[in-house]
Amino acid sequence: MFIALDGGDGAGKGVQIEFLKRWLAERGLDFVFVRDPGDTPLGDIIRSLLLKNSAIDICPLAEAALFMASRAQLVQEIIEPALETGKVVLVDRYLLSTVVYQGYANDATEEEIATLWRIGTVFTKGILPDVTFILDCPSEVCNERLSRDRDRIEARGIKFHSKVAQGYRQAAQTWNQYARGEVFVIDATLTPQEVFNKIKAILESRVP
Ligand code: TYD
Repeated sequence: MFIALDGGDGAGKGVQIEFLKRWLAERGLDFVFVRDPGDTPLGDIIRSLLLKNSAIDICPLAEAALFMASRAQLVQEIIEPALETGKVVLVDRYLLSTVVYQGYANDATEEEIATLWRIGTVFTKGILPDVTFILDCPSEVCNERLSRDRDRIEARGIKFHSKVAQGYRQAAQTWNQYARGEVFVIDATLTPQEVFNKIKAILESRVP
């Protein structure tokens, strides 16, 4: 069972991840949690390259390729072996983030979006989540929740982040064309407990 949590910066992903980890542990499930990008030696280097506010210029295509590379390593080292041994895998972001941030938020055409999904499927060996939760939050609300200390991508303006929010909605609408598994868009303007209750209600019938 492969579960992904995704959404814009400031949508409250971190809190939901903590709730989810506790819930999986309480059910006695053997699970592995990873964040994308990161959580492998290569992924950690790529993560700091991508997110640190450095002087290095990274063009949009290079950025997409780096996110893809980090994820390929994560699949190879952690996700695939964990799934093969019957563990539940919980990821903080996955391919959908690349489609949204490097695709929709960069004004990608529908053709380019399709290509990102396709390349992303190759880079993940076709290992895609069974269930994806999108925390849907207007960029103005997200912006207020974010601290002043922002990473390279968080620091992009409100215009970029409203394209991110819109991109998640568009991705959800076209889900069956490109992705696999189920997708659920959750209203992240609710309280953290209300958001989690919705996630839990969906997972209860799906997790062993
Ligand atoms: P995240 O782990 O949510 O950051 P934080 O440490 O603040 O919780 O995500 C890191 C950033 O990387 C976030 O702004 C989204 C961005 N990102 C992409 O642009 N493309 C991707 O493919 C992924 C996985 C993340």
